[in-house]
Amino acid sequence: MEKLYDAALAVFKNSYSPYSKFKVGASVLLKNGEIISGTNIENASYGLTNCAERSALFAAYSKGYRKEDIEKIMVIGDVEEPISPCGACRQVMSELMNQDSEVVLTNLKKDIKVMKVKELLPYSFNNEVL
Ligand code: THU
Repeated sequence: MEKLYDAALAVFKNSYSPYSKFKVGASVLLKNGEIISGTNIENASYGLTNCAERSALFAAYSKGYRKEDIEKIMVIGDVEEPISPCGACRQVMSELMNQDSEVVLTNLKKDIKVMKVKELLPYSFNNEVL
């Protein structure tokens, strides 16, 4: 957990967020022990912003990993309570992670809230209906 926290904090510092000035870091822990991180990347065309959770998960998938390879994801923000992932990231976590995998939410004080993917997005829209 300490290693994962350090990785999330390190990538949090790389946030490109000149508009919101709100930094977020996310680190995916793989079952093989590897950690893949991502941060939020904003754009002058605001809607093109990519959240940290999606940056990290897309990086993991880009390296060839898939949901069965993922142990958990940690997300950190400078917030009073452990950070709450946005709706878009909940949908993406629901697609790219196992429903029972842990999402560890934290902040700079190291408060921790652990939730499962399925708890963050119950009754999700998913590929079963497609
Ligand atoms: N943000 C994330 O990276 N993850 C979240 O779950 C919440 C929001 C980013 C997007 C934007 O760069 C900034 O935080 C403010 O919304």
